[in-house]
Amino acid sequence: MVKKILVLHGPNLQLLGKREPDVYGTETLSSINGLLEEKAKYHKVELKIFQSNHEGQLIDLIGDIGLNWAEAILINPGAFTHTSIAIRDALAAVNKPVVEVHLSNIHAREEFRKNSWIAPVATGQISGFGKFSYILGLEALLNL
Ligand code: DQA
Repeated sequence: MVKKILVLHGPNLQLLGKREPDVYGTETLSSINGLLEEKAKYHKVELKIFQSNHEGQLIDLIGDIGLNWAEAILINPGAFTHTSIAIRDALAAVNKPVVEVHLSNIHAREEFRKNSWIAPVATGQISGFGKFSYILGLEALLNL
C-alpha cells in the first residue's frame, strides 16, 4: 500500500467556499484538506498538500516531491486540466500512480472542460462528487 501521497490543488481552488458555490460547493479548501488528513491518519498514510495558481510551481512540485518523496499523486489540476500538456508531461515523467479529481462533473459542463490532458497519464479520474471526489481519490490510491 502506498504510504506517502502528494496532494496538489491547482488554480483558484484556494477560493473554494466562496467560488461559484452552486458548482463547487461551500466547503473551503482547508476543510477538504482536514478531511484528507483525517482519512490519511486513519490509514497511517503521510500527505504533503499544496495549492498553487502557477503551472510552473505545480510542475516543480511534481518533479521534486512527486519524484523524490511521494509514492503516488492525488491532483485536482483545476483549469490546467484542459490546457496543460506540461503538467501531463511532468506526471508522465515521474511515472507513479496518479488519481485526477474534480469537484464538479467536468463531462457534464461546457464543451471545453470535457478534454483532460491529464487523464491519459492518470491511473484514473474521479469527477463530480464535490469534496468526496478527493476522499474517493485517496481511497482509490490506497486500494491500488
Ligand atoms: C475543477 C474543474 C475545472 O474545469 C475547473 O477549471 C476548476 C475546478 C473541479 O474541481 O471541478 O478549476 O477542476
